Amino acid sequence: MDKIAVISDIHGNLPALEAVLEDIAERGAETVYCLGDLIGKGPSGDKAIDLVRRRCAAVIRGNWDDFVSREAEAESEVLRWHQSVIGEERMDWLRSLPFVIEFVLSGRLVRLFHASPRSVCERIQPWDGQNRRMSLFEPPPHGGMNVPADIAGYGDIHNAYVQHLDGRTLFNAGSVGNPLDLPNASYVLLEGKFGSEAPAPWSIRLVRVPYDIGRAIREAKAAGMPNLAEYGRELRTARYRHASG
Ligand SMILES: [Fe+2]
Repeated sequence: MDKIAVISDIHGNLPALEAVLEDIAERGAETVYCLGDLIGKGPSGDKAIDLVRRRCAAVIRGNWDDFVSREAEAESEVLRWHQSVIGEERMDWLRSLPFVIEFVLSGRLVRLFHASPRSVCERIQPWDGQNRRMSLFEPPPHGGMNVPADIAGYGDIHNAYVQHLDGRTLFNAGSVGNPLDLPNASYVLLEGKFGSEAPAPWSIRLVRVPYDIGRAIREAKAAGMPNLAEYGRELRTARYRHASG
């Protein structure tokens, strides 16, 4: 049985990323995929990128990776702060990231994207109407296979869940570094026969990992990060005062 870990929305939170990668290694998952939003919000976008590049077999682009690396002369002071932490070489790498990851697991086509098969910014929640959720199985208009996914997985909303809809499986990996459901880092573990077209047993599991939130806040303070109070509140309560993923 092959084990594939899916992580997403790290948002520059190094203690959370390290805790998740340690748990993934302990469970013996060989392959780690990352669904984007490596940066923004937290202080360690540079280190998060470096660690993800070392450990992940594939990485796709999120909305924060997109706008932080594309905004040439950012007006917002917060955005400029994050850009200066990340630096040019890493921003080039963010701009080069693909949009989808696809593979076959125990005879099922798995498609992973950041927010939807259409855009890094289209936000779909587990409580949205069935048509909206079903649209997440559709083929992506730009790249990827031209067939619906059997298993579709995404990040972006920072709310982990699994649903079976009309014979297909939809999941959200939740957020490693800025969850909005529980103040524990989140990821998904898939098990099955990787690359095999023949139907075979497979499983999906939502995993939660406690991590040192105090350290995450101390690192943000030491780095002189803007919006520190708000950030600390988000990590401790798993809630935003304003909606922004
Ligand atoms: Fe995010």
